[in-house]
Amino acid sequence: MISDLLENNRRWAAQKVQKDPDFFNRLSKQQAPEYLWIGCADSRVPANEIVGLDPGELFVHRNVANIVHGADFNCLSVMQFAIEVLKVRHIIVCGHYGCGGVRAVLAGRQFGLTDHWLWPLRELRAQHVEELEALPDEDARVDRLCEINVRVQALNVARTPLVQNAWHRKQPLKIHAWIYGLKDGHAHDLNFTIDGPDRLAQAHRLDPL
Ligand code: CO
Repeated sequence: MISDLLENNRRWAAQKVQKDPDFFNRLSKQQAPEYLWIGCADSRVPANEIVGLDPGELFVHRNVANIVHGADFNCLSVMQFAIEVLKVRHIIVCGHYGCGGVRAVLAGRQFGLTDHWLWPLRELRAQHVEELEALPDEDARVDRLCEINVRVQALNVARTPLVQNAWHRKQPLKIHAWIYGLKDGHAHDLNFTIDGPDRLAQAHRLDPL
């Protein structure tokens, strides 16, 4: 029942105030998150909840299969505000095993508009076809392509002028690639942290403005 959601909401707000009477008053004046989360829209990957952060502590952008397109003004606007106004110190690109977007691409199944969104994933599949085909089953291929996707999307974040200009300004900013397991609730760092332009190929490096 949709009305249950509003009842849940009132109960949640009351619990917050009970623990910390000034909680909403303080949050309503400003937000100062240190982290930007770019994750999948999948309902099983609730960003704040899985990293134990309260409202005000995590700036969040989610889309199907946590893809960072160089011309997606939604994601880029979120990144610009996070980097230049909120001055977040970390951008976490978090994918998840068993991602439906990745599975759809591997199966060649059509969904409609989403197929256009998933276009870069088909490119990735094509680039890694031999490695993927060598894996024992479809679940293994899905999980491997999920990992490949997260690393590439973290690189895409680092390749944006927004991030490179932050580094040119000596603003501390680290990009992380994580993956979350639906089966055990554990998020893992893929050890793909990018904290400066050195990790970018020459073709992707931009001079300071
Ligand atoms: Co997903």
